[in-house]
Amino acid sequence: MGTRRLLLLLSALLLGSCFQQDSNRSSQILPLDYQTSYQPPVRTCRLVVGHNSRSIVVRVNTPEAQQAYLAANSPLPQGSVVLAEEYNKADCTNLAGYTLMFKDVPGYDAAAADWHWQRLDDQRVVLEDGRIESCISCHTQCNLNDYTCSPP
Ligand code: HEC
Repeated sequence: MGTRRLLLLLSALLLGSCFQQDSNRSSQILPLDYQTSYQPPVRTCRLVVGHNSRSIVVRVNTPEAQQAYLAANSPLPQGSVVLAEEYNKADCTNLAGYTLMFKDVPGYDAAAADWHWQRLDDQRVVLEDGRIESCISCHTQCNLNDYTCSPP
């Protein structure tokens, strides 16, 4: 297990359901080196309706998360991160920012599969964090797929 992932797990355990992050700080969930430490994309560049009409590439942090993400109807393990890189251009150049889902501790948000949501700018600075109602209300349509919506 990577040090970063261990730290993330430890901080999630220590802080429990109080894990929360102030805006205007770098994301504690998304590491700077995610391009090398995360798995290769689970979904390649596609245009999305509902994310400001941006194009996204989807990546996850661990092999376990990758396996669960790619298998339909399989919940992702605690500590999983599902990351959408968001681009202004249809061909996924010109990074605009990120949205992500982090599988927090059991009970973090029991009604919505314990996902912890974040929206970041292109420098990984947190714009929105936590049990974000707008994200949940739309992704709940994909609850049979553990709230992940991107089709193969
Ligand atoms: C209006 C509906 C809607 C809203 C609001 C919305 N999403 Fe999404 N999101 C989608 C859809 C649909 C997809 C899949 C799009 C595709 O691949 O075609 C998606 C994809 C994603 C993905 C890629 C993983 C996956 O399979 O779902 C992440 C991560 C994500 N959204 C995070 C967020 C976050 C964080 C927010 C809130 C800041 C948010 N979304 C708000 C509809 C929405």
